[in-house]
Amino acid sequence: MELQCFQITMHKGWALLEMARPDKLNVIDETVLTELEAILQHFKEEQVKAVVVTGQGRAFAAGADVGAMAEMDSQEAKQFSVLGNKVFQAIEDHPAVFVAAVNGYALGGGCELALACDLRLASEKATFAQPEINLGIIPGFGGTQRLPRIAGAAKAKEWIFTGRRFSAQEALQAGVVSQVLAPEELLPAAAALAEELAGKSGPILTLAKRAIAASGTGVSPSHGEQEANFFGKCLSTEDGREGLRAFVEKRDPVFKDR
Ligand code: COA
Repeated sequence: MELQCFQITMHKGWALLEMARPDKLNVIDETVLTELEAILQHFKEEQVKAVVVTGQGRAFAAGADVGAMAEMDSQEAKQFSVLGNKVFQAIEDHPAVFVAAVNGYALGGGCELALACDLRLASEKATFAQPEINLGIIPGFGGTQRLPRIAGAAKAKEWIFTGRRFSAQEALQAGVVSQVLAPEELLPAAAALAEELAGKSGPILTLAKRAIAASGTGVSPSHGEQEANFFGKCLSTEDGREGLRAFVEKRDPVFKDR
């Protein structure tokens, strides 16, 4: 597979999937999402049982590409959100178990990618946030659906309404991650977990994953569709346009409540 944005290392029964644009803090744009969709299909064909997802450099992923979003109209923004939701839903529906190894910034779409994975381990250096509110938008890749299911509605509302950052320890306390590790221990721990999973029966792991999703923890495509509608609406407001433009122009936004 020829890849621009990711690097894959295959192991027996499991794969390491690294976001490989550290100079761009692994920001998520349409190319990343399209490539990820193809990778997920490839892992299905290869009958991979577990996948460790991590980011090269100091970020897991610093979010969706704000520069690209600043150029979108409302309809294009909705389509971007539909695509992000579809690809992250494909992780949730994938037969393999996904383990996010959150090494650094997991902001916006980066946090949502980690939330779409089945399990999350974090480095002590990891920083999480859904900071979209400060850009005049809302999470658009499933965050409004998965964060409340994982952390509970109260914490999810606090984090989504304020956009404030939360540490690996706070993520642990809220059940967003299951372990916090020293930076050098993160990948070895994630690899050991993936190896353990790869030693199980693949079809039975998949049935366990599906059964847990059916218990109400899962997100359905219609949830994603609703989020995408609201996400698109943000870009039809003056504040949405201002928030994204302000980030690109490296200044604070001036919101006018319209
Ligand atoms: N989209 C587009 N570009 C981004 C980005 C994003 N989400 N996050 C970072 N970048 C770019 C920066 O604009 C900067 O580009 P430049 O070198 O051309 O100026 C580069 O990545 C490095 O980021 P910088 O802000 O200089 O590094 P930092 O160490 O001071 O801060 C972050 C790192 C991640 C805290 C900061 O970049 C940030 O807050 N990013 C936005 C996070 C966000 O709101 N994500 C949600 C989007 S929905």
